[in-house]
Amino acid sequence: MSEAADPAFEQFWADALQPKWADKSESSQRRLDWWREAKFGMFVHWDPSSLAASEISWSKQFYADHGEQLLDNPRPSPDLHGVREHRFWLDWFKPAVPREVYDHLHKSFYPGMFDADRFVAAAKQAGMKYLIQVTKHHNGFCMWDTKFTDFNIMATPYRRDLVVAMAQACARAGIRYGIYYSQRDWHHPDYGPERMAKYNEYMYHQVEELLVKCPNIEVIFFDCEQYYPWQMWDGKRLFQMIHRLRPKVIINDRCGVPADCTTPEQSIGEYNLERDWESCMTFTGFWSWHGFQATVIPFEECLHHLVRCAGGGGNLLMNIGPLPTGQIDPREADRLQRVGAWLAQNGASIYGTRGGPFPPGDYGVSTRKGDTVYVHVLQWPEGEVVLPPPGSRVVSARLLAGGNASVQQTPDGVRIGVAPADRTEPDTIVVLELARG
Ligand code: GLC
Repeated sequence: MSEAADPAFEQFWADALQPKWADKSESSQRRLDWWREAKFGMFVHWDPSSLAASEISWSKQFYADHGEQLLDNPRPSPDLHGVREHRFWLDWFKPAVPREVYDHLHKSFYPGMFDADRFVAAAKQAGMKYLIQVTKHHNGFCMWDTKFTDFNIMATPYRRDLVVAMAQACARAGIRYGIYYSQRDWHHPDYGPERMAKYNEYMYHQVEELLVKCPNIEVIFFDCEQYYPWQMWDGKRLFQMIHRLRPKVIINDRCGVPADCTTPEQSIGEYNLERDWESCMTFTGFWSWHGFQATVIPFEECLHHLVRCAGGGGNLLMNIGPLPTGQIDPREADRLQRVGAWLAQNGASIYGTRGGPFPPGDYGVSTRKGDTVYVHVLQWPEGEVVLPPPGSRVVSARLLAGGNASVQQTPDGVRIGVAPADRTEPDTIVVLELARG
């Protein structure tokens, strides 16, 4: 089945196949304007798996369908186009949850403390400009009231659509909203080589249903590795439907085409001004709730992630793993609140900036807005920070927090010094004005 040809869609698809934004059409470049300025979003990995305090989807232990034999964590694989799922067993998938338990967790899912407005307010106070929620992870459970499977939020004692609730709260708070949707599905009977076309219909209808139910979906975060070709998901037809309903949507690179942005995971993206990117990072090393024994990174580290993303030309999508009660882990809430307080003072050096002109290094990074450059010193070397030539003359220098910086410019580059008493933790921001030109 194919939809009628539409020139606007053909352009959208041609752009989706182009990795570099300069090679994309003007309208595709403009589509990402708000996202590029936003810099900072919240990723929410939350579903009934939080009850097991073990990794979302990956902790589901399989058994042989006949007999009691425990299988070596085989992932049901579509096995199409020569692609097989990996069969290894990683530490972060543990503790394993027997399939019989995992697939029934939703029957005890009652997040009675969930308050969508308070939840979204925490993202807003953290200075985040958008929120991406897991609607269906690899385990196949749907957090919304879908009519295409019973394996959804209405089968829990809670019986309230958590996708619509979150989307509406975002709209009320003025936060952009996006969905994570996994094409992999380890629950749906049609996911596999025999009935993949049927499974693709299911997926198509679910994404369509989400877009219709939540008119403010502005980002779609698909989730399958690049080695899965788009043909496997009938990707062109999927994109056509998405484009028809939401022509300004932003789509990541995990549906077999480069689309709008690269998504490094658990690492900060490389300095790149030609291709948009967004790093997704976790507070605990895990995506979903792993209990209070999991260590949460300190505020300083979270802030450094944000600054290093901005300086590299990318965004930070900071993940939280809410409790089964529907609350944000208080330790994560604390880090978010402190990043927000920092951004309230120093946001000019992050929002709406581009990376560079100085490349990132051990010292930190730089961001820029026109002729104003913010040098973020995250780690002072012995003495001064030595940077390569910025391409024009430095006409003035000051500290964003107030105070003086000494700057010496030679043909070899720029040397920046700040007296130890004037440095600020966890980031000393030196503002340089460059000569116009
Ligand atoms: C990975 C994992 C998944 C996680 C995602 C976030 O692909 O499979 O568990 O949701 O990355 O980027």
